[in-house]
Amino acid sequence: MEIKGKVALITGASQGIGKSTAVALAKEGASVIINFKFNEKLASDVLKECNKYSKNNMIIRADITIENDVKEMFNKIFKKFNKLDILINNAGIFDEEDNPTNIKSFENTFNVNFLAQVRVTKHALEIMKVGKIINVSSVHGKIGHGRVGAIAYSSMKAALDSYTINLAKDLAPNILVNAISPGKTLTSMWGI
Ligand SMILES: NC(=O)c1ccc[n+]([C@@H]2O[C@H](COP(=O)([O-])OP(=O)(O)OC[C@H]3O[C@@H](n4cnc5c(N)ncnc54)[C@H](OP(=O)(O)O)[C@@H]3O)[C@@H](O)[C@H]2O)c1
Repeated sequence: MEIKGKVALITGASQGIGKSTAVALAKEGASVIINFKFNEKLASDVLKECNKYSKNNMIIRADITIENDVKEMFNKIFKKFNKLDILINNAGIFDEEDNPTNIKSFENTFNVNFLAQVRVTKHALEIMKVGKIINVSSVHGKIGHGRVGAIAYSSMKAALDSYTINLAKDLAPNILVNAISPGKTLTSMWGI
């Protein structure tokens, strides 16, 4: 896919992997939409960086666990661009209370990292007719948890992998769906 001139939404792009992805896409000439939840200052810094490389970039605050926030985000995207070409479902958290018996932690982990990706995708499909969706999974979706107390996180990433495979079958060939599965990456998720 030619990236120059494409419109790309990266959820959770104020820092970490999302930030690097936004800058990388801008360097290839895409217009990037930098979504964030809390860190407006960080998101604005990412915008400044992206503006060095491409045009029509923007930041949008939206908590992707909240239906109305997501709806508003897509209204803004449609108003400005009339389309979306690339969706990177990246935003996520690690719940420090994750353990085998903590149902609240399972609920929180699946809500923020899985159901919210499904919600964002649902709205994206209303304005994306042809394009690419990339879900940011993790090696832990495949091999189990790599640290003590990551059972909900690992189970959630396995669910995201299955969702990705099923969605890919449903949407091909016009929309191609893939997941990437990074290993340990030193971001704020690791207290960096
Ligand atoms: N780091 C790793 O070792 C690693 C390895 C494999 C996969 N991953 C995956 O990579 C993705 C990014 O992780 P990261 O390490 O880059 O994390 P990070 O540096 O902590 O960044 C998380 C991003 O998600 C945003 N976010 C969190 N909750 C949100 C919500 N409800 N609505 C909108 N945005 C929200 C944050 O926005 P604010 O800054 O505004 O709060 C931030 O931009 C996650 O899906 C993670 O599971 C990470």
